[in-house]
Amino acid sequence: MSGPPAAAVAAARTALERAVRVVVFTGAGVSAESGVPTFRGAGGLWRTFKPEDLATPVAFGRDPRLVWEWYAWRRETVARCEPNAAHRALARWILGRAGVTLVSQNVDDLHERAAREAAPDAERARRAEPVKLHGSLFHDHCTRCPYRAGARGAVDATSVATLPHCPECGGLMRPDVVWFGEMLPARRVEAAFAATAEAEACLVIGTTGAVYPAAGVVHTAKAAGARVVVLDPGATEYDGLADVKLVGQAGEVLPQLLA
Ligand code: OAD
Repeated sequence: MSGPPAAAVAAARTALERAVRVVVFTGAGVSAESGVPTFRGAGGLWRTFKPEDLATPVAFGRDPRLVWEWYAWRRETVARCEPNAAHRALARWILGRAGVTLVSQNVDDLHERAAREAAPDAERARRAEPVKLHGSLFHDHCTRCPYRAGARGAVDATSVATLPHCPECGGLMRPDVVWFGEMLPARRVEAAFAATAEAEACLVIGTTGAVYPAAGVVHTAKAAGARVVVLDPGATEYDGLADVKLVGQAGEVLPQLLA
């Protein structure tokens, strides 16, 4: 696939270089070249599965085994994937300059893995880790008490009895992701929107911009005067407000843009 015109890439680079503070906002498209399915469009998860059966508190209450089976499958899928050139270019760029906040809607761990690869130690890697507005596929929390578990692996979804249970109270654990109808984690929303309100540039990668409140990050940036650069091979809700639209694949364009 041929990339965006050189003049558009140059305009995007200028917008990013002139900005003291930048917010990078990513969606499923940044992980597409790693083999992680997106949600909408051809091959998207919501083409095959119904969110109301799998990604709501009501669905979990009705059939926790089915919901866990789906998340176990997604965990296994992502665990087999590797960060791609887009995650890597972003991690290197963020570590190499000050003032960038990475905000992601993704529940995969590919930004974090790229950050750990690019940084000399775990402490510095944290600088390039995303504010995860929709939670994490690899973390669980208890449905009954405040217990949270990190970095979990495979789940046996044969029956409700084999599902993960809380070591503190015995309650059923659930994936630590935001489901439809649920609030986003308040502190992460505050961090994301506070950084956004101060940014002079907003780089948007691989998201249709259809799911609120997360999608509001870009509108907030625009309203605060940021230059908005949108990188996506398809149409997005942000195309009308983009100062620069780069039509292309993240893994091809970002290494060039952020070099
Ligand atoms: P979508 O599936 O809505 O959008 C993915 C975007 O990535 C589309 O605009 C594609 O054109 C673009 N894309 C595909 N391949 C790409 C590539 N190689 N490089 C760059 N872009 C590419 O995913 P999101 O916008 O992330 O929410 O979806 C938002 C939320 O909807 C998700 O976080 C999830 C879902 O329901 C929750 O689970 C709460």
